[in-house]
Formats: sequence, C-alpha cells, structure tokens
Amino acid sequence: MLNSEITGKKLQGQCFRIVSAESPVKLYCCYVLIAVLSIAVIALSVALSLPTRRQEQTSIKNIPANCLRNWIGFGSKCFYFSENTSNWTFSQNFCMELEAHLARFDSDEELEFLNRYKGTFDYWIGLHRESPEHPWMWTDNTEYYGPVLIGGVEEYAYLNNNGISSARVYADRRWICSKPSSYALQCQIPLLSF
Ligand SMILES: *[C@@H]1O[C@H](CO)[C@@H](O)[C@H](O)[C@H]1NC(C)=O
Ligand SMILES: *[C@@H]1O[C@H](CO)[C@@H](O)[C@H](O)[C@H]1NC(C)=O
Repeated sequence: MLNSEITGKKLQGQCFRIVSAESPVKLYCCYVLIAVLSIAVIALSVALSLPTRRQEQTSIKNIPANCLRNWIGFGSKCFYFSENTSNWTFSQNFCMELEAHLARFDSDEELEFLNRYKGTFDYWIGLHRESPEHPWMWTDNTEYYGPVLIGGVEEYAYLNNNGISSARVYADRRWICSKPSSYALQCQIPLLSF
C-alpha cells in the first residue's frame, strides 16, 4: 500500500507538470495514468480481501450445527435443556411444539455430551416403554439398542448422575429436547459446492 501511495504521489507530480504544459495529448496521458492507478488500487484491495473471505468460508465449514438461541449444537443436532420442570408427556409436547422431540442420542459421544451439560439435575429424555416387559422405545417408536442399561422398573426414562433411570410419567423433572440442526438439513448442498 505504502509503495503504491508513493508511486501515486510521484505520478501526480508528473501529472501537474504535464497539465501545466497544457498539451491535450499530455492531459489525455494524465487521465490514462489516473485510470491505471485507480484500477491498480482496486485490484490491490480486492486481492487483500480475498484471503479473509477464504478464512471465513473455512470457519463456517467447521461449525457443524446451526441452532436457535437457547439451543446448544453438538455434531449434527441441536439440544435444548429446560429450566422448568414437568412430567414426561408435557415435556415431549413442549419439544414437539418446537419441531423437536425429547432427547435422543445416537452415539457414545452424544450421550457423553448430554451428561456433561446436564450438570447435577435430572432430565427427561425421549425413551419410554409400555411396561417393564416391553423394550425401551424412542419417541419415533424405534427400539432402543443403546450402550447404557436403563435402571429402575418404571416406564419413562431420565438422565441422572449415574446414567439413565426410569420413573413414572407424572414425576416432575427438567427435560432435554433434540432435533437435527437446521444447518445439517439446509446447508449441506451449498457447502458441498464451495
Ligand atoms: C416456565 O414455566 C413458567 C410458569 O409455568 C412459564 O411462564 C414459562 O414460560 C416457562 N418457561 C419456559 C422456557 O418454558
Ligand atoms: C402433565 O402436566 C400437565 C401440565 O402440568 C398436566 O396437564 C397433565 O395432566 C400432566 N400429565 C400427567 C400424566 O401427569
């Protein structure tokens, strides 16, 4: 930048001399010089701004989840940790109103994340069963094959400090909702074309 400024000043000096000569040809030459100089400055600023833009694109790529305010992104999902408490049914309805469902985890990493963020509170998650003789089901009615055994003999599962336990539907607890991140849903295709 400094170099081009100095060059610019030199050229301006030359231009004044040329203008004072009052020759139309030299005046034209001066305009051409100014035009060339302006193009050089524009090209230089575009060149300088390019690496920044490339960095922005890379950092967007590294953000895996795009979640609403009050939701926390992890992997390709968004999680909502409630502060209120209620029964399992109310909690599931609350999540469904936000186009989500009571939390589902699909990997050890996701379960670990939930355990880390839950702190010391107990939270309803999206597992229930018809009776102790029935298998545990996710809210979309697929069977639970998770790595963690669910303790207790009740029908509704919640996360506690020792893993996952069960309680009756009407117990009041905090709850966690989960849903696929909007970024994972909407932005995969444009990202691939970068
Ligand atoms: C929590 O419960 C209170 C009282 O029922 C309600 O007014 C508030 O909207 C609830 N907050 C959330 C985030 O659901
Ligand atoms: C769950 O809580 C809601 C709201 O407080 C209440 O209307 C409903 O009867 C409760 N359901 C059960 C099964 O306890």
